[in-house]
Amino acid sequence: MRRTLIAGNWKMNGSLATNAALLSEIIAGMPVAPSRDVVVCAPFPYLAQCADTLAGTVVSLGAQDVSVHAQGAFTGDVSASMLSDFSCGYVIVGHSERRAYHAEDDALVAQKVLRVLDLNMTPILCVGEMLEQRESGQTNEVVAAQLNAVLDVLTSDHLSRLVVAYEPVWAIGTGKTATPQMAQDVHAFLRQQIAAKSSDSAELVQIVYGGSMKPDNANELLQMPDIDGGLIGGAALKAVDFLAIIAAV
Ligand code: 13P
Repeated sequence: MRRTLIAGNWKMNGSLATNAALLSEIIAGMPVAPSRDVVVCAPFPYLAQCADTLAGTVVSLGAQDVSVHAQGAFTGDVSASMLSDFSCGYVIVGHSERRAYHAEDDALVAQKVLRVLDLNMTPILCVGEMLEQRESGQTNEVVAAQLNAVLDVLTSDHLSRLVVAYEPVWAIGTGKTATPQMAQDVHAFLRQQIAAKSSDSAELVQIVYGGSMKPDNANELLQMPDIDGGLIGGAALKAVDFLAIIAAV
């Protein structure tokens, strides 16, 4: 049985004061022994704050990006070992906002995934189609290309440690959500792609949904057999909403 993973992606939001308030509410509202994996992915400058606050709690820490380089003259970049130093267990890689605003391509994303795995952290690999791609029937082709660029560089040991996030670009921050069946269809397709490399790993890999997941739609999305959790943007910034999604059945 795959555990459900609920990860908050704070994106470029927060401050020392609002992070402290948000985390203390989340920690206070968490079950003692949650049946789900819970992660918050904070902006780089706040990783130290979040690592201190989350130490000894049931909430794990993640980052939102990583450099493809190990170290050196890469002004402004943050390496995987730096993230590991600050207790990051997870790193979001290839988010559509990175692909769109920083021209990240599949080959770069694949190398970033390797960096994260090399440091024994868990990559949350984002894939997803744009609206015109869905409307022209290209969804499977697009997500397969994004996923396979990564699968092609992974060993079988790596593969079982991957998390995939299906985030249809048209559903991010728009209030439009894929219907549970639409999301399930893509998740099942992604799992088939993984199974083509390793059927054992395909059963283990958590495939989570992202794109306007909220307390009022989380239940039906999370009930689908191939939806193993959520990558939550806006609703992760409100403790009451994030906790409600964590508690959704
Ligand atoms: P929203 O939940 O705000 O749509 O964001 C989803 C997302 O991009 C998470 O990575």
